[in-house]
Amino acid sequence: MDGQWEKCRTVLVTGANRGIGLNLVKALVNGKFTPEIIIATARDPGGAEELQELASKHCSIHIVKLDVIDQQAIFQAVQCTSSLVGERGLNCLINNAGINLRDSLEEVTADTMMSNYQINTVAPLMIIKAFLPLLRKAAKQTTGFGIGRAAVVNISSCLGSIQQTWEDGAEYRCYPYRASKAALNMVSRCVAFDLEPEGILCCSLHPGWVRTDMGGQEAPLGTTESVEGILSVLGGVNRNSNSLLLDWTGQKLPW
Ligand SMILES: NC(=O)c1ccc[n+]([C@@H]2O[C@H](COP(=O)([O-])OP(=O)(O)OC[C@H]3O[C@@H](n4cnc5c(N)ncnc54)[C@H](OP(=O)(O)O)[C@@H]3O)[C@@H](O)[C@H]2O)c1
Repeated sequence: MDGQWEKCRTVLVTGANRGIGLNLVKALVNGKFTPEIIIATARDPGGAEELQELASKHCSIHIVKLDVIDQQAIFQAVQCTSSLVGERGLNCLINNAGINLRDSLEEVTADTMMSNYQINTVAPLMIIKAFLPLLRKAAKQTTGFGIGRAAVVNISSCLGSIQQTWEDGAEYRCYPYRASKAALNMVSRCVAFDLEPEGILCCSLHPGWVRTDMGGQEAPLGTTESVEGILSVLGGVNRNSNSLLLDWTGQKLPW
């Protein structure tokens, strides 16, 4: 973990109470270049025991309550973040929170499609929109392109790749999840296009198939390996990486 992390002073991770989000926060505080302020959001901070314990040992971690589909909660999280980061603004926003509804063609309903879409696609976009003033504040302070200035990282999935429908995970016919991540990838592309002139990067990132509650115990990657890869890739993202779907090794995945 190096590259632009040296210049990244403030970072926010959603869904940081367990899984990849929690381990991203752990790796950030244990890295060579720890951001001054790490905002770790959780929808139930009281129940986020491991995160609370971590925060008690590292004063850079600030736990903020956020249910990503609650617009009022997003507004309050922005206020709280704003007072924590002050004039620094927000260098790196990591939209990590997500759910995986695995319905097959026979099982899928309008409700499961909408729930997955709301959490995995609509929520990240609303969060980007709400945190934009803080990203802009950070972007105005320096030049360059990447997490050392201002960046949005949407944790997506190779299962959102339309081209790979017949390739990796072809047997995994989960309509709600796959469609929501394909749509999230389009959000990343549009946001990257819109914010590039302001020096704010946006990309989608596939963390690998990881052993978490979502990934299951049969997944080949541990959280440590995945998050170390993710942070190393993020340290190196630049103008050439803008709007791409990358994996945890830095490889570019097809749309
Ligand atoms: N694990 C994999 O193999 C894999 C592969 C590809 C992509 N991903 C992506 O990586 C990200 C993290 O996945 P994970 O494996 O760490 O999953 P996980 O262990 O199931 O954790 C999901 C996280 O999202 C949070 N979350 C869900 N709904 C939320 C809401 N409405 N508001 C706020 N937080 C909410 C959860 O909080 P609660 O504890 O409150 O539910 C939890 O912190 C997801 O976007 C996922 O799609 C994972």
